[in-house]
Amino acid sequence: MTLQPTPADRFTFGLWTIGWTGNDPFGQPTRAALDPVQAVHKLSELGAYGITFHDNDLVPFDATASEKDLILKNFKAALTETGLKVPMVTTNLFSHPVFKDGGFTSNDRSVRRFALAKVLRNIDLAAELGAETFVMWGGREGSEYDGSKDLHAALDRYREGVDTAAAYIKEKGYGLRIALEPKPNEPRGDILLPTVGHGLAFIAQLEHGDIVGLNPETGHEQMAGLNFTHGIAQALWAGKLFHIDLNGQRGIKYDQDLVFGHGDLTSAFFTVDLLENGFPGGGPRYDGPRHFDYKPSRTDGYDGVWESAIANMATYLLLKERALAFRADPEVQEALATSGVAELAQPTLAPGETTGDLLADPSAFEDFDADATAQRSFAFIRLNQLAIEHLLGAR
Ligand code: GCO
Ligand code: MN
Ligand code: MN
Repeated sequence: MTLQPTPADRFTFGLWTIGWTGNDPFGQPTRAALDPVQAVHKLSELGAYGITFHDNDLVPFDATASEKDLILKNFKAALTETGLKVPMVTTNLFSHPVFKDGGFTSNDRSVRRFALAKVLRNIDLAAELGAETFVMWGGREGSEYDGSKDLHAALDRYREGVDTAAAYIKEKGYGLRIALEPKPNEPRGDILLPTVGHGLAFIAQLEHGDIVGLNPETGHEQMAGLNFTHGIAQALWAGKLFHIDLNGQRGIKYDQDLVFGHGDLTSAFFTVDLLENGFPGGGPRYDGPRHFDYKPSRTDGYDGVWESAIANMATYLLLKERALAFRADPEVQEALATSGVAELAQPTLAPGETTGDLLADPSAFEDFDADATAQRSFAFIRLNQLAIEHLLGAR
C-alpha cells in the first residue's frame, strides 16, 4: 500500500492548523507566521485536496478593503494554480476582545449584531470560493459563572443567529450547509452545545434545521469523556454528519489537538473503520472531506509542521488499509457472526406485528428461557483482539 495521499483521498487542513505559530496561554509564538499562498502550495505538493480557513486566518480583522482584495486575489491565484479546493469556511467569533462574552450569545446586543453581520459577510465569501460547508464553532458562546448568563435567552439568541444565517443561505441560493462544532469547554469555562448530543437536540429546534448539521471533532468529544465514534455514528444516523474534524486527544484534559491517531489509536481505528466501511449492517455513509484540525506542537519548527501534516494523512491511510483488511478477514467475519453483530439489524418486531401480538406470543415471554439465553457468550473480546491484531499489522 502507498502512504502517498492524492486529492482523491479528500484530505483537507485548516489554515489555522499548519499556520499555528505556537502561542499558548503561557508562551509566545515559537514559529514565524505562514503565508497563506505558501500554505496552499505546500498542501497541494503534499497531496491534500483542500484548505479551509476562518475569515481572519486569511484576511486580518482590521484589514482595509484594498488589503482584503489583494489578499484574496493572491489566494485565489494560488488555488487556481494548484487546483486546491476550499470545501469549508468558518468565522472567527472568538479572537478579538469584543467577543469575550461570545458572538451570537454575548449579553451585549451590539456585539451580537456585529457577529451576525460578520458571519453573513463570510457566508458570501464562502459561497464565492465554492465551499459546501460553513462551520460554526461557538468557542466563546458560554460562561464561566452560571449566574452571568440567562441560559434560556442564550439558546434563543443562538437559535436566532443560526436560523438567520441559514435563511440567508437559502435566500441567496447558495449551495452551502451549516455545520455546528460542539466543544465542552475552552476557551469558555463551559461552552453552549458541548457535545454531539446537545448539537443534535439544538438542530431539532431550528426553523431551518434542514441545512444545519454537525462538524464533530475527535478531541472535543473525548475532552468530555465521550466516545467519538459513537458520536459520529449518531450524527450519521440522524443524517447530520455534514463535516468532520479529525485529530488526537489523550483523555479528559485541555484541548490537545494532536495529530490524528496520536491520541487514542484504537478509537481512531474504529473511526476510520466507520468512515471507510460504514455500519456493518449498512446505513448512511460520510462522503465529505477528511478534515484535520490539529496543532503542530510548538516544540517543532516548520519541518515538524509539514511532517505533522504528512503524519495525519499517512496515519489515516494506514488505518484505512487496516480497517479494510479487518473487515475482509474471514476470521473476523466468523467472529462477527459469533458475536451476533449482523443480528442487530433485524427489527425486534416482525413486519406488521403489533404490541398485542407480541404480548400474546408465549415464545417471547412465558416460554422464553432467560437463564438459558443468558448463557450465550457474545465473544466480544475475541472480536476486539482481532481488531487490535489488524491494527498492529499482525494480520
Ligand atoms: C478548537 C476548534 C477550532 C474550530 C475552528 C473552526 O480546536 O477549539 O476545533 O479549531 O474547529 O475554530 O471554527
Ligand atoms: Mn480542538
Ligand atoms: Mn475543530
